[in-house]
Amino acid sequence: MVVPESQEKMYYPPDDLKGDAHVPDFNSYLALYRKSLENPEAFWKEIADEFSWKKPATGPMLQYNFDVTKGNIYVKCMEGAKTNMCYNVLDRLVKERNLGEKVAYYWEGNSPDHHMAITYRQLLSQVCRCANVLKQMGVKKGDRVSIYLPMIPELVYTMLACARIGAVHCIVFAGFSSESLCERMVDAQSSVLVTADGVYRGEKLINLKQIADEALEKCREKASSSVTKCLVIKHHALRTKSGAACNKLQTPWDSDCDVWWDEVMRDSPEECEPEWLDAEDPLFILHTSGSTGKPKGVLHTVAGYLLYTSLTFKYVFDHHHDDVYWCTADIGWITGHSYITYGPLANGATSVLFEGIPVHPHVGRFWEIIEKYKVTKFYTAPTAIRLLMKYGREPLQKYDLSSLRILGTVGEPINPEAWQWYHEVVGQGRCPVVDTFWQTETGGHVLTPLPAATPLKPGSATFPFFGVEPTILNEHGEELEGEGEGYLVFRRPWPGIMRTVYRNHERFENTYFKKFPGFYLTGDGCRRDKDGYYWITGRIDDMLNVSGHLMSTAEVEAALTEHPAVAEAAVVSRPHKVKGECLYCFVTLKDSREFNHKLVEEVKRLVREKIGPIATPDFIQNAPALPKTRSGKIMRRILRQIARNEKDLGDLSALADPKVVEELFSQRCEAA
Ligand code: PRX
Repeated sequence: MVVPESQEKMYYPPDDLKGDAHVPDFNSYLALYRKSLENPEAFWKEIADEFSWKKPATGPMLQYNFDVTKGNIYVKCMEGAKTNMCYNVLDRLVKERNLGEKVAYYWEGNSPDHHMAITYRQLLSQVCRCANVLKQMGVKKGDRVSIYLPMIPELVYTMLACARIGAVHCIVFAGFSSESLCERMVDAQSSVLVTADGVYRGEKLINLKQIADEALEKCREKASSSVTKCLVIKHHALRTKSGAACNKLQTPWDSDCDVWWDEVMRDSPEECEPEWLDAEDPLFILHTSGSTGKPKGVLHTVAGYLLYTSLTFKYVFDHHHDDVYWCTADIGWITGHSYITYGPLANGATSVLFEGIPVHPHVGRFWEIIEKYKVTKFYTAPTAIRLLMKYGREPLQKYDLSSLRILGTVGEPINPEAWQWYHEVVGQGRCPVVDTFWQTETGGHVLTPLPAATPLKPGSATFPFFGVEPTILNEHGEELEGEGEGYLVFRRPWPGIMRTVYRNHERFENTYFKKFPGFYLTGDGCRRDKDGYYWITGRIDDMLNVSGHLMSTAEVEAALTEHPAVAEAAVVSRPHKVKGECLYCFVTLKDSREFNHKLVEEVKRLVREKIGPIATPDFIQNAPALPKTRSGKIMRRILRQIARNEKDLGDLSALADPKVVEELFSQRCEAA
């Protein structure tokens, strides 16, 4: 690799970033990158030395097997070391770095009237009190705690409290349905659920406790509930609208199981000795969609995740002490885990923690918050950018965005139009856009520019982060040299990669390591251009990416076929202006059932209820029959082309009945 020069339009890092940048130019990136691959032991040891270890490692920084033909797949980082994540992200800063009075979070509520600042010292105190509450409830090292909360400070307190006592947090995004919550609690076998009474998302009041109760009830029906206590935060009643609005919400209560947070926190002691864990002890489980439809509990461990999230945060956002950083993701997703909680805190950063949505109470809310807190580093998703682009420049012109220095994106490929708008209109042409490619499984960024070092090409996640060795394989598992397109894989681990699928190591090996022995398979397609830049082309498995949220065709199909009128269903993606991709569903009805507007609405509602609003289909098409091969396999390629109205279908000889295609074209949905 050399310093890139290209015929295309490139965006070079601005000079004013270079002065105090951690990686000030491309040659420095290359030198560090080389070191990270040639001498990973020295590279990661230096990073580890910045943190506190109760006991040093006895094993190497990284040990692994990535080759299924040679035995079980494993990754270990710093075997023998003892540490605690919470100690490293809080006590170390308050006690050893004197950062107690520094603001850790500016919490900004759904309504602009609700906000507060939380210092590192206050955070430590709340976390310790919560840790003692959890202990009081019987939670011990290794136990799982499910968390179903909106973006409120207590979400951070609870996750760090788990980390402090060695419990494994299992956060479920609060937009998921009771069914999805139940499925994840059962899989994690959690003993405690933490939730809140209710929350406003924009104008909409959501009775979280009721959804949580429904989930617990479903678990009991399945006779697999392990949850004995439910800790309930009085968020809506105390913090949001007072008076009449408050009465709108009846919090259902079971005094055998439910405990009010404020009552138990009040008398809980502020001191709590951290539990010293093994480097490879689990830190958390986070479920991500799997192609079978059943979510996978991605497991991350303590030491490797600490090193990786802290280092990527520091370099990718070129973090400095006086920054105000804002990541708009929800902590219910991996982006929030790594880049709202752990990465920023490990660096002693000041972050904005935002509960609301981009368009409430007005479409300038993001820009208002950037001005209010003088945000310097801003990290969001292409879907949010596309949504806000629709309102034009005017909402931004009312606010002072001159504090911004670096912009980031994550979650899906960013289209050039959205990239340009982000760069020109939000960043006023001054701020590099770091397009970070990664996954729940990777724990942190794996392909990403470094803002002061990497010349940018809009839409490319550019180059690998330190310690990451990508390559592109063709269908036969042969590596492509130079330019080419194929499967994106990684040849070796980095400290933050997942260790297993919780309680299903076999699924872990089959999903990520079986197809190409010796490599971790991302499931994404990728192109490398003549300058060595990597371009993610999207998923090449049965996954869909809607507004940056991954879901599997199988899980949506399973929900669709639960409708009594639906005999069979097939789901594909169709491009969408704001969401990137949206769900286009083909349903075959049972004999004598009529396809009409009412049925379409019922089916859409069912998917919302089963999975959550993020999975609401945009299109439901009647499919008297589905295109199948003679062996009965649905040919999704053809359905995708029908959804996109691509008439040139190529070879249809594999189809059992080619006439089906014509029929489907004649009934396709034009508009949602
Ligand atoms: O398809 C890729 C896409 O999101 C997938 C991972 O989704 P998830 O595990 O939910 O994590 C999302 C946040 C890290 C990837 O397999 N993806 C993520 N970031 C990008 C992306 N696609 C293109 N460009 C990106 N920057």
